[in-house]
Amino acid sequence: MTTDLPSPCFVLEAEKLKANLCKLRYLQDQTDIQILHTLKSFHSREGLKIISEYLSGFSAGNQRELDKLHQIPSTHIHSYAPVFRPDEIKPLAFQSNTLSFNSLHQWECYTSSISTDSSIGLRINPQLTLKQPKYCNPNYTTHLGVPYQTFLQAYANDPKLFQALEGLHFHAFCSQGLNGLKYLLSHISKNYQEILPRLQWLNLGGGHQFTHTTYDTEGFITLINTFRSHYPHLLLYFEPGESVVKDTGYFSTTILDIIPGEIPIVILDTSIEAHLLDIAITKQKPIIRNTSIQQTPYPYQLSGMSCIAGDTIGTYFFEEALHIDDKVIFEDMMGYSIVKQTEFNGIEKAGFRVDEGIAPIYL
Ligand SMILES: Cc1ncc(COP(=O)(O)O)c(C=O)c1O
Repeated sequence: MTTDLPSPCFVLEAEKLKANLCKLRYLQDQTDIQILHTLKSFHSREGLKIISEYLSGFSAGNQRELDKLHQIPSTHIHSYAPVFRPDEIKPLAFQSNTLSFNSLHQWECYTSSISTDSSIGLRINPQLTLKQPKYCNPNYTTHLGVPYQTFLQAYANDPKLFQALEGLHFHAFCSQGLNGLKYLLSHISKNYQEILPRLQWLNLGGGHQFTHTTYDTEGFITLINTFRSHYPHLLLYFEPGESVVKDTGYFSTTILDIIPGEIPIVILDTSIEAHLLDIAITKQKPIIRNTSIQQTPYPYQLSGMSCIAGDTIGTYFFEEALHIDDKVIFEDMMGYSIVKQTEFNGIEKAGFRVDEGIAPIYL
């Protein structure tokens, strides 16, 4: 193992990112959709430069996210947030090709002042019945998007209110395969017949497992091309985050102490609250390199270095005995971890490096 990495450190594996981006570009090329990378999932500059070479653009929530794109080329910017502040909406609209509002109130407040700056739309909650983890299932919340029946009723009552409406935005998924998208497209075809002919675009959100090995890529191409044949005037945007950076890098940590016991406790130079918040929120057990699901003679309980009692990562069965100064590597750590770092308990943010893939760092 190399010693020139700071510890702890997130390492982006550029070749793996490019492999994901090739898959996404294939989807774009075969269907004429535009795929936008969602900045809230990952916005490390070196990665964004690579992403910009393959995808159509980016999806942002506010000016600070857009600032991450300084001097990074982008054909299309979409902006959306659960709420826009009065002082940010005008400059944000000016920098966005498309923008969607989250509520009818925000729609009414801001439409007239920004409709010449950006193509504007509304986020709709399609209230799909889907089995998805609660923390990331937008269908069951009432604050993310206008519930579709409320929107349809408002449209029927006063279509003039929606004269400036050019797009609808649906973000309904959390790590979904093709069946979720089939369900969403059939919801759209069924419920918005009157409105679709006058729109210019649909944003079909994120949460698609586009780069997972099991994703039905050819099924996606057929589904989208069939949908587009019914609505050829509509531009279709997707805004994945997680699947852009899925399995494209790891988090390297160092063992600072080992407390003996029936299951020895390993204290790492990291902390859930400082570097791994997504794990705390999703309650998923991260995959650790050189461990096994089967029991081995080397069980260890991994803990963080903060003074919170709950700063424990879990018990793992390692292939070999561990020692102080050894590295512990967390797999698939590019999405939603780097962006959520804090400085809780005075713990510094982790380093970030790019492995260009010419000379792999870990063999
Ligand atoms: C509105 C919106 N679009 C896109 C995404 C990206 O979703 P994912 O990273 O699951 O693809 C999110 C994630 O929270 C989101 O809130």
